[in-house]
Amino acid sequence: MNATAAPFYSLSELLNLGGKTALVTGGAMGIGQAIALRLATAGAHVAICDLDEKGAIETAVEIGKGGGSAEARRMDVADAAAVTETIEKLAETRGGIDILVNNAGIYPMCPFLKSDDALWQKTLEVNLLGAVRCTRAVLPHMQKSAASGRGGAIVNVASIDGFRPSAPYLTHYGSSKAALMSMTKSLAWELRGQGIRVNGIAPGAIKTPGTAALMPIPKDDKEREKLESMERAFVGRIALKRRGQPDDVARVVLFLASPLSEYMTGEILVVDGGYLLS
Ligand code: NAI
Repeated sequence: MNATAAPFYSLSELLNLGGKTALVTGGAMGIGQAIALRLATAGAHVAICDLDEKGAIETAVEIGKGGGSAEARRMDVADAAAVTETIEKLAETRGGIDILVNNAGIYPMCPFLKSDDALWQKTLEVNLLGAVRCTRAVLPHMQKSAASGRGGAIVNVASIDGFRPSAPYLTHYGSSKAALMSMTKSLAWELRGQGIRVNGIAPGAIKTPGTAALMPIPKDDKEREKLESMERAFVGRIALKRRGQPDDVARVVLFLASPLSEYMTGEILVVDGGYLLS
């Protein structure tokens, strides 16, 4: 055995987030909820911050029932003052924040020529600036604990649309996610040497309440058949032949938040069942 090799940690040690505090934005439902549940199963205390306070509380209760530790806070990532106040309070009561998952996001569909400044501003406000301001508020706390050897991990939830459009009418959305991926890489480089890793994921084709709302099931038989046929064609383009579940994404976030990915920063992992290959 090479004497300079890193210690060979067990899998349970590498996945152990015990004693860590994680903040997940948009954790009341969908991908964010699955991320909160996964981080809690690894032992982290999870603060679920969402516009939807009721959903956030329900998620925290579910984590508690499973033996995990969580709390819920109403927070709008588009509200700079609320973000600062919530994060300062959380850092104070928990003695720091070790993991930040910037997941809150919106994807209203709108043809480009109809998309006005207000829509672009709202999308960028939540999807890009929301992540920027949560990161800005969390970083000083992470830097403090990283200086004492605890490290820190930031995971930004981008989208395959940041690489290539997966659906029409989402130019504003794809642009916001491309910017978030760029922010991920630039910040990872700026924080070099500080023990804080910044990575991203680019999911695609995940079944969530948000994506379901984009395609309400029509009452009319013909319209429903048309929608089902479009869905079959879409799934046909996915290499793994199914839409993803929120937990498919959450498992990869757990990887990026845990010491399993200790030697990764500034990376974007695509989690789309191979859709981008088509
Ligand atoms: P969803 O719509 O099912 O859930 C989003 C959650 O974020 C909700 O709980 C909502 O209340 C919360 N939220 C929205 N705006 C907020 C704000 N301003 N402040 C705080 N919380 C807010 O969405 P889904 O599908 O779970 O998506 C989560 C993330 O994953 C988003 O960033 C989305 O862009 C990204 N994504 C989703 C994909 C999919 O196929 N579902 C594909 C690629 C990326």
